[in-house]
Amino acid sequence: MSKVLSAVAWPYANGPRHIGHVAGFGVPSDVFSRYMRMAGHEVLMVSGSDEHGTPILIAADEAGISPQQLADRNHRLIVEDLVGLGLSYDMYTRTTTRNHHAVVQEMFRGVYDNGYFVEQTTYGAISPSTGRTLPDRYIEGTCPICGTVGARGDQCDACGNQLDPHDLIDPVSRINGETPQFIETQHFFLDLPALADALGEWLDEREASGTWRPNVIKFSKNILSEIRPRAMTRDIDWGIAVPLEGWQDNPTKKLYVWFDAVIGYLSASIEWARRSGDPEAWRQWWNDPQALSYYFMGKDNITFHSQIWPAELLAYNGQGSKGGSAHELGVLNLPTEVVSSEFLTMEGRKFSSSKKVVIYVADLLSRYQADAFRYFVAAAGPENQDSDFSWAEFVQRTNSELVAGWGNLVSRTATLIAKNFGQVPEPATLSEADTTILATTEAAFGVVGDLIGRNRMRSAIAEAMRAVGEVNKYVTDSEPWKIKDDPERLGTVLFVMAQCVQDLNTLLSPFLPFTANQIDVVLGGSGDLQPLPRIEEVEDLDGGPGYPVITGDYTGVRPWERRAVVPGTPIEKPAPVFTKLDPTLVTEELARLGLEG
Ligand code: MF3
Ligand code: ZN
Repeated sequence: MSKVLSAVAWPYANGPRHIGHVAGFGVPSDVFSRYMRMAGHEVLMVSGSDEHGTPILIAADEAGISPQQLADRNHRLIVEDLVGLGLSYDMYTRTTTRNHHAVVQEMFRGVYDNGYFVEQTTYGAISPSTGRTLPDRYIEGTCPICGTVGARGDQCDACGNQLDPHDLIDPVSRINGETPQFIETQHFFLDLPALADALGEWLDEREASGTWRPNVIKFSKNILSEIRPRAMTRDIDWGIAVPLEGWQDNPTKKLYVWFDAVIGYLSASIEWARRSGDPEAWRQWWNDPQALSYYFMGKDNITFHSQIWPAELLAYNGQGSKGGSAHELGVLNLPTEVVSSEFLTMEGRKFSSSKKVVIYVADLLSRYQADAFRYFVAAAGPENQDSDFSWAEFVQRTNSELVAGWGNLVSRTATLIAKNFGQVPEPATLSEADTTILATTEAAFGVVGDLIGRNRMRSAIAEAMRAVGEVNKYVTDSEPWKIKDDPERLGTVLFVMAQCVQDLNTLLSPFLPFTANQIDVVLGGSGDLQPLPRIEEVEDLDGGPGYPVITGDYTGVRPWERRAVVPGTPIEKPAPVFTKLDPTLVTEELARLGLEG
């Protein structure tokens, strides 16, 4: 049994979440965390809203409110989105807490004292029309390395190299297309070259583990060859102050998102521990080298999790070529695995909030079951390659796989038991077919669990659904509705069906937590197979304003194994668990998106 940190990418608080966001980091991290808890591991699942930086400033400008007001509003909306999806965070917090600020500043001081920050003069972009600084992502131009047009100021997506806005050929502002001005400015650069050997060793060791997705490890090793110092401060007035004399009070120099939100994995763990009553408990996930950590994100975040973040940890630990020593947070663990997804498109298009080509989580959840969406993402999401969400496929998968496949099996089983016995019958002698199907669903625990543990969610749910198909076939072959004068045989078949449904429900529960609890009730259980997250309004631990967090008590989760059904358990005729979707909704939904033609 291990300590397992599930570190989930921090969504920007610049607006509510659309389904493309949560398909990449949300559902996969939750399936993994739920399974790992069932398998007996001690999981700490953390994340929060990323509230600093230019994206928030721009959205606040547009809304005509302060960045703090905008962040408050969106943090609350995002919390509701994520709870609505059933994502089982132990601590989903935010970057504007005092705890987060303090942890980030402690990291800064550690890295600084160990000598891994170098102060350099560089060129910063400003907008000639507004005078506002234009950080990386707001500048686009031609990549100086591979020549691709449309490279961003922080990275070229075509060749994967990290860039500075000043490197771009023909730079323009993404906000209004104007050509930025570059002015001289002082910044702290993380000395990545001094950490490159240590990073390389860590990546070699990670590659040898064989668990990373091949594209992620390959990309991460590739970008090591182009490594150079990266600025960790920005000319911006919204963010965390640089904790050094002469800088701390400078209103226009703040820490960069990649020395801010990314440290949230650690600060959220600390916040969780402080709120749990054992303020040092986080160390079991961060200081114990046996602990495991899995980071979930979209592919545009790989560089930052497989290079920048581990480099910051190595620098704080004093493990680069300049040496050094760990500070008060101790020697911190590097990621065990960077689990990155590809992108989700929608009806063949890129999501675009500005062009309204977007499906917000809240809208989807107001009309459809969270588990139907979770199912779609697990079965057809962008795990290893980009994938497309279409309403036609959503309806088709919901109706044929969930309603007609799984839901129908549950309903047939409970209905037949209710009608013939009113309770789970006692089995008599098992036939060969009975034993075989019972062995099939029991064996699925090993297969499906192994796949989820390795973050192969598409294969995992396919295996679970294959078992559903086999049980359905067993029912069709056994024809219990035709067994008229042999209550012993009928009871045996229905008992076997009940046990198989119980097994399948446990197997599917990390994917489908809401309906798993409903089905548990159908089978006479208490309906708490999968604990659900809740929103809690909390006080800031250090005197700042209060805020909502997501948390939950997931300790009562059932073990990942067969749980025997008990003959005599009363069973009633159930209501349908999955809602069948009317195919005409496809036209309606396309019209909502302005895509009817
Ligand atoms: N909000 C940023 C993004 O979505 C960063 C998320 S990951 C974290 O790209 F490491 F910063 F948390
Ligand atoms: Zn390039």
